[in-house]
Amino acid sequence: MAGRAAIVGWGTAVPEQRLTNADLEQRVETSDEWIVERTGIRERRYAADGETTASLAIEAGTAAIKQAGITPEEIDLVIVATATPEQPIPHTGAFVCDGLGVHCGSFDLGAGCAGFVYELVTGSALLTAGNLRHVLVIGAETLSRVVDPRDRGTCILFGDGAAGVVLAPSTDDGPGLLAWDLGCDGSATGLLGIPSGGSRRPATPETIAAGEQYIKMQGQEVFKRAVRAVVESVKRALALAGMTGADVDWFVPHQANARIIEAAAARLGIPAERTIVNIDRFGNTSAASIPLAMAEAADTGRLEDGAVVLMSGFGAGMTWGSAVVRWGRP
Ligand code: UT7
Repeated sequence: MAGRAAIVGWGTAVPEQRLTNADLEQRVETSDEWIVERTGIRERRYAADGETTASLAIEAGTAAIKQAGITPEEIDLVIVATATPEQPIPHTGAFVCDGLGVHCGSFDLGAGCAGFVYELVTGSALLTAGNLRHVLVIGAETLSRVVDPRDRGTCILFGDGAAGVVLAPSTDDGPGLLAWDLGCDGSATGLLGIPSGGSRRPATPETIAAGEQYIKMQGQEVFKRAVRAVVESVKRALALAGMTGADVDWFVPHQANARIIEAAAARLGIPAERTIVNIDRFGNTSAASIPLAMAEAADTGRLEDGAVVLMSGFGAGMTWGSAVVRWGRP
């Protein structure tokens, strides 16, 4: 089967609980002014007890299925991109399938904050290669569970949330995924990650005492590489689509830092009015950030049928990924 995969439904889920910059001022040596100026973030959502990566993913997935006007039984594959899985084993998708009441194939995808673009590409490829009716791709995170509450370099950035889309077959010249670029520079694994708890360094009382179960990040270096990676990856994806920045109707970047978004958009010649930014209210939700921003743009009527939507993410690995999508239902 040829053709494209189009986005036919979307849904989001964020915890009720908000952590504001004023709340963080009580916890670490920081200020609202510093956080807003350096990151653009004003508040982020934090999962309550009992809220988990899977519970948020199930809520977002249920909303996306409803919005697509289908039933869960019409989903033939579930992919969950996450850096904060429900448990090490089994994968988060298993919990999500259970919550949705489906028995289709499912797997998790790990590509850091570029996870949503990776799963969009993967889900689209599987949809157009086989006889799948719909693929549900969800980005879901509870980063609050792996953030060091004493580390002001990271605890101000990350938040919790989930968002997903339903993919359905479209025609060769219809709406859907037009072009993409994925990459990973594995020589940079040390710049951003959780050092212990895996096979390389299993958790011990010593690693826990040293706080190695928490995210560690070399922020400035990640910042520099992020701008470069996004700009270069977007250029490759746009070239494959036969487009330039001037053809982009809406830029939906990973929401890691407002300054990264501004720098990348400026270098790509995409004006601020065409860039979707919601980092002020949600912070960095890793794999959930792009679909969360995209869903909000769609819900507020900004993504017209036929619009060229450009997504681009980057994150731990370091990974990057960009996707050019023509918006609309087949
Ligand atoms: O999605 C995954 C990818 N992650 C990212 O994209 C994150 C990329 N990095 C960033 O967003 C930024 O590097 C940060 C927001 C993390 C930090 O901003 P920065 O402008 O790069 O600050 P810096 O690390 O260069 O630190 C500047 C100063 C330092 O003080 P000194 O050494 O100059 O006295 C830090 O200790 O700011 C200090 N600082 C803070 N001050 C107040 C660091 N964090 C804070 C804070 N509040 N929360």
